Amino acid sequence: MCGIIGITSTKPVSSSIINSLKKLEYRGYDSAGIATLLDGKINEVKCEGRVKALETNISKIKMLGTVGIGHVRWATHGVPSTLNAHPHSSESVSVVHNGIIENSTLLKKFLVEKGHKFKSQTDTEVIVHLITEYLKENDLKNSILKMLKKLHGSFALGIIFKDQPDLIVGARRGSPLAVGYGPNENYLGSDSYALKSMTNKITYLDDGEFCILKKNSVEFFDDTGKKVNKSVLELSNEEGDYDKGDYKHFMAKEIEEQPITIKNCINEYIDKINNDINLLNFPWKQNEISSIVLIGCGTAYHSCLMAKHWFEQLTDLDISVDIASEFRYRKNKFKSESLYIFVSQSGETADTYAALDLCNKNKMKTCSVVNVVESSIARDSKFVLPIHCGPEIGVASTKAFLGQMLVLYLFSIKIAFVRGSIDKDKYQTKIKSLLSLADLVKNTLDTDNQIQSACNSFVDAKGSMFLGRGSSFPIALEGALKLKELAYIHAEGYPAGEMKHGPLALIEDGMPVVVIAPRDYYYNKTISNMQEVIARGAKVLLITNKSTDEIFSENIWQKIEVENTDDDLLPFLITIPLQKLAYHSALKKGYDIDKPRNLAKSVTVE
Ligand code: AGP
Repeated sequence: MCGIIGITSTKPVSSSIINSLKKLEYRGYDSAGIATLLDGKINEVKCEGRVKALETNISKIKMLGTVGIGHVRWATHGVPSTLNAHPHSSESVSVVHNGIIENSTLLKKFLVEKGHKFKSQTDTEVIVHLITEYLKENDLKNSILKMLKKLHGSFALGIIFKDQPDLIVGARRGSPLAVGYGPNENYLGSDSYALKSMTNKITYLDDGEFCILKKNSVEFFDDTGKKVNKSVLELSNEEGDYDKGDYKHFMAKEIEEQPITIKNCINEYIDKINNDINLLNFPWKQNEISSIVLIGCGTAYHSCLMAKHWFEQLTDLDISVDIASEFRYRKNKFKSESLYIFVSQSGETADTYAALDLCNKNKMKTCSVVNVVESSIARDSKFVLPIHCGPEIGVASTKAFLGQMLVLYLFSIKIAFVRGSIDKDKYQTKIKSLLSLADLVKNTLDTDNQIQSACNSFVDAKGSMFLGRGSSFPIALEGALKLKELAYIHAEGYPAGEMKHGPLALIEDGMPVVVIAPRDYYYNKTISNMQEVIARGAKVLLITNKSTDEIFSENIWQKIEVENTDDDLLPFLITIPLQKLAYHSALKKGYDIDKPRNLAKSVTVE
């Protein structure tokens, strides 16, 4: 998963490419590179590390080319290094690539036999040599077509040619690609966000298509080379909030702005006058749906698990949840009365998109819960429920998790009411409780001091566990994921009742264990499980909600109590201290909080 950009213009393009690459860094940040063309010569600058380093390198030379391509990389084939950074070039072409070429080993063999010499360990380099090979006997368009036919796997490509002074070829299969239009210049980018500072006029390529961009024209072709007409979308000019402000990290900002994002989302969905939830234009009647399948990856998968809990509590529907990378290769039994819900912050996650695509191909009812409404997943779903969180830049998902849970919860209570599973009174009481959620989340943000002191034990630990039952189990998984990805501490989320079937053997003296036990239906059972780990030496950080009832347990190491509210809303509050636990642990260890090692914000390879 990488980010690509291309610009053909009448003026030098390197600084605009750098600016766009900075916006694409959420897709990968282990190396970056740029190639521009001037007077029939391709100039390349590449480096390991961030776009900032690339910018510094470029500032030392003059890159005056008026056509160019750029890339931010998340390594798949070959270590992160300057050599493996894109673009990859031959004497005649230069290529940037997002995706994976699955048959690169075979293609490389074929090309080496033809005398091509490879410089990098990447799969991408075969594309360079294939085009170079085909250009010997074919025109540009036929060379591209031949090259595309040879590739197996997923890709979005940007290609410039030594002999074509203002031309860029773009092509996509599996990975997203957008074309943008400007005055005497045109653009190619992995998403519209990267192009937003230059244009709001966008065309998205469909799977299998390629395009030829010149500074004053754009042509689109299908996979047979037939010209296709495509419409131009005008995106809103609204620039999201991409600034850290006074915060040290985007993640800190994104945690703190959760009361606002919750309020915004509630304002979008709740009709306060009629005490009702608006699901405008929901395309299916309630008797057309008898089951729901929720699909996502990582944090989004956890919000699916959370939604399963609510849907099961509140409705008569059959609910199942799947991890997108599993679902896409499973022998699924597609049922016409199932609703498939795809949850994704970015809307570009390759596995989630593939699962959606599979459902669309099987003519299923597809709905997505996304943050980025211009994303591929949103565009290709039959119905979209946006989470209205604004840009989430930190790689660790925080406000989007709360946003996903919120929208799925709103959806579950609306469906429950429409299907008659809950009466009007219960429905409207739940809506009323939701109206105070933003303030409750705001109060919970004050847990900083307590969390900071608890962090020390996590930072020094060999490993940790997060335990919960019922609605607290998905939150336990999410708390563990945050600690892993940010503080690089081994953390396992587990159903509290399952510990005795094996994981209890891991507990040893001083091991930090987070127990999530709100005073809900599962409370007493979870407290018993907590006793079992305390008895084996665990240092328990208990997260519960305020109550006048005493907790019948001794030797609890630390306790955090969130406000009282409807049981359904407690997961929102309990998530906050867990986000902070991961944040402060990473801060203490001096790690790169917004860009943890080995990760990327948007996972566009499978
Ligand atoms: C969470 O903190 C992650 N960085 C990751 O698990 C993420 O939620 C996952 O990759 C899915 O992303 P998406 O929501 O953009 O589809």
